[in-house]
Amino acid sequence: MATTLIKNGTIVNSGETYKADVLIDGERISRIGSTLSRKADNVVDARGQYLVPGGIDVHTHLAMPFGGTVSSDDFYTGHKGAAFGGTTTHIDFCIQSKGESFEKSLKTWHDKADDKACIDYGFHMAITDLNAKTMEELPKLPSMGVTSIKLFMAYKGVLQVDDDTLFQAMRIAGKSGILSMVHAENGDVIDTLVSEALEAGNTSPAWHGRTRPHLCEAEATGRAIAMSGLADAPLYVVHMTCESAVDQLRLGQKQGLKVYGETCTQYFMTSQADLERPGFEGAKYVCSPPIRTKHDQEALWKAVADGTLAVISTDHCPFNFKGQKDLGKDDFSKIPNGMPGIEDRMYMTYDRGVRKEKISMNKWVELNCTNPAKLFGLYPRKGTITVGSDADIVLWDTKATKTVSAKTHHMNIDYNTYEGKRIRGLPTKTFRRGHLIVDDGEFLAEAGSGRFLRRERVKL
Ligand code: URP
Ligand code: ZN
Ligand code: ZN
Repeated sequence: MATTLIKNGTIVNSGETYKADVLIDGERISRIGSTLSRKADNVVDARGQYLVPGGIDVHTHLAMPFGGTVSSDDFYTGHKGAAFGGTTTHIDFCIQSKGESFEKSLKTWHDKADDKACIDYGFHMAITDLNAKTMEELPKLPSMGVTSIKLFMAYKGVLQVDDDTLFQAMRIAGKSGILSMVHAENGDVIDTLVSEALEAGNTSPAWHGRTRPHLCEAEATGRAIAMSGLADAPLYVVHMTCESAVDQLRLGQKQGLKVYGETCTQYFMTSQADLERPGFEGAKYVCSPPIRTKHDQEALWKAVADGTLAVISTDHCPFNFKGQKDLGKDDFSKIPNGMPGIEDRMYMTYDRGVRKEKISMNKWVELNCTNPAKLFGLYPRKGTITVGSDADIVLWDTKATKTVSAKTHHMNIDYNTYEGKRIRGLPTKTFRRGHLIVDDGEFLAEAGSGRFLRRERVKL
């Protein structure tokens, strides 16, 4: 196995920052020291750069059938984008089709990933059909390497589950060391508001936001939290967008419940004003829950800084503006829901978070790398630069600048959420398990070299 010595860099973990050399032996970190003089097959000079753990994006939808189409990044193009952005691991949602066993659904997702993967990946199981058979199968998910489930409280008639399913699934999950995740929005109320808007002739993308008010999210968040207490099961609320929902989470945490929350890059940086852009432009920003207000953006920065929210992910679910988003040209409810971002997360949150002094660089690592690993059964194998960990290391140049654009990004999508934004602070080299997979703009990973991660049961 080849050895690589990264010299003269500064390591940034969630709890410490220090200058050190790092020796990689094969796929793992074998030594960290102030001046390692050992010979190595490859020597990389990281002078002036930071070494941060490879990013972990725990919320993605690659090649997912949704809204009458399929998300445009597969496990090759999505992974390529991720690697360029400094992300070396992600967890994708495997969606159970109605009537299907979890084993069968997982086989479908493994087939999508196996020979395309370039970074490491795991799966959450999104439950759409909890019946006698799947209730029996649920505790066996950890033996398939899957230790988290997801339940949708919205998307009525498609993915939404009722409260009974929510409670029963959480209860079994809690007993089995499986973390329950929820998409928290009141799908029934939204369904009514959407029908009323359409009946009144309101069809533009702006109505996506207007028919999914923040109270729908706050109500469902509070309900899911109460349910997790009743079920005695830890809960992780995905893609939280607004102050009123975060208040519910804070209350649950104050009550001593094991409840955790995530937000996504776009909720800090886009708002209803983007949905209101002229023409059909707003369709680029249609995702659920919807992007909110400047006030909510500030509330989210505060919540990540004070630890109420534990994770930043992307909810990467890309649909091309031409040929996919336009399915909803005459009816906003037919616009496929989702936005791209797997490539942009680390540098957008560095630039807008660390550089603008909303969070420290250690906090940024905690939110993007360490907490995702801890909450999803990957720590300390991933999410930290420590002896014995996988050598997932990103060299970060705080002086490098670029203008974000779909013309230069690597994701398979015809627009970028952050088009035209000038940023400072970028990854220059990405190591995944000791392999240099991005080297100053060159992609070196082979399709199929990414590995499925069997995750540990979560003890929260
Ligand atoms: O709009 C979104 N978020 N699309 C992906 C599915 C989901 O709700 O996470
Ligand atoms: Zn969702
Ligand atoms: Zn999602």
